[in-house]
Amino acid sequence: MLQVGFVGLGGIAREHLGIVSEFPKANIAAVCDIVQENAEKAAEQYGANAYTDFDILLECEQLDALFVCVPQFARADIEEKAAQRGIHLFVEKPLGIDMETVKKKAEVLHQSGVIVSTGYCLRYLDIIEKAKQYLVGKQIAMVRANRFDSMYGPLWWRDLSKSGGQLVDQVTHNIDMMMYLAGKIKKVSADMGLTIMKDVPGTTAPDVSSVNVVFESGAIGHIAASYIPQPDYRSSLEIMGNNFRVTIDGIATLTIVEKDQTISYKSNTLFYKEQDEAFLNAILTSDRSLILSSYEEAMNTLEVTLAANESAQTGLSVYL
Ligand SMILES: NC(=O)c1ccc[n+]([C@@H]2O[C@H](COP(=O)([O-])OP(=O)(O)OC[C@H]3O[C@@H](n4cnc5c(N)ncnc54)[C@H](O)[C@@H]3O)[C@@H](O)[C@H]2O)c1
Repeated sequence: MLQVGFVGLGGIAREHLGIVSEFPKANIAAVCDIVQENAEKAAEQYGANAYTDFDILLECEQLDALFVCVPQFARADIEEKAAQRGIHLFVEKPLGIDMETVKKKAEVLHQSGVIVSTGYCLRYLDIIEKAKQYLVGKQIAMVRANRFDSMYGPLWWRDLSKSGGQLVDQVTHNIDMMMYLAGKIKKVSADMGLTIMKDVPGTTAPDVSSVNVVFESGAIGHIAASYIPQPDYRSSLEIMGNNFRVTIDGIATLTIVEKDQTISYKSNTLFYKEQDEAFLNAILTSDRSLILSSYEEAMNTLEVTLAANESAQTGLSVYL
């Protein structure tokens, strides 16, 4: 039985707690949140020990794995402290809001040798795997992504200094899919604005973004994003090459259009479940290949989103 701990017990932790509690070879041993009520509630629900101080949790518990679900501005040295005790880590995306801090974390995690998975859950969709297979050996010329979503609930999200903004926190999933399918990005140029949402108290994160990217392969890409109120939600990714187009609509549909045929696939994947089980099974079997999003790859994605912020602020392109 893997002894599993959780730190940060908000919205996303609830997803993971539900999945881990049903995994036959895992026991939720300890949960921690700076809000005592959150810790006590989760502890009662899952029969775990409750903590409000992560250092005390580490002193008192013998964990095999830890889910780090505190927001990115509050990660402090949680990952380093756990890794130095040999605790395998699941770290939510984004890894942080500052590249230098995250690079230092990466070094400690690498040296510790623990298994690390990150929260880029969409990589586990069956349609993404199908798209990836289809694209093997094909030259990609252009990639377009968009995400027209809404303001995420927690108050920290609208504060640019805490969340990093919509690109860093939310559209990171779309950019991660772009990079998973089309490779690394070498140049980023962005414009962002805070338009309609500036009247919402505490909002400093831009609500509209337009980002141009150049991939290492030479392909050209664009991302459009906003969280201004809209009648509906839209998220899609389009990859184009010589006489083909791969489109992923939302998280449900993959369409491959060729000159003479169009094929569509519907996804049935419970991606959080696939992701969490891959992490736990990787620990049980020592097979790291089950994990589709390593810390290093998540760093690449973070770097692109932070570069977009920088470019929007300076008006200059950022070369990675
Ligand atoms: N992969 C995904 O699809 C996905 C979805 C939502 C959120 N997330 C990410 O998960 C993280 C958390 O998001 P959320 O929506 O759960 O936020 P949230 O605000 O709902 O919950 C965060 C929790 O962490 C607690 N917390 C804050 N600082 C802490 C500390 N130092 N020690 C212990 N607990 C602390 C808060 O009290 C709160 O209960 C963010 O990084 C977010 O980007 C990922």
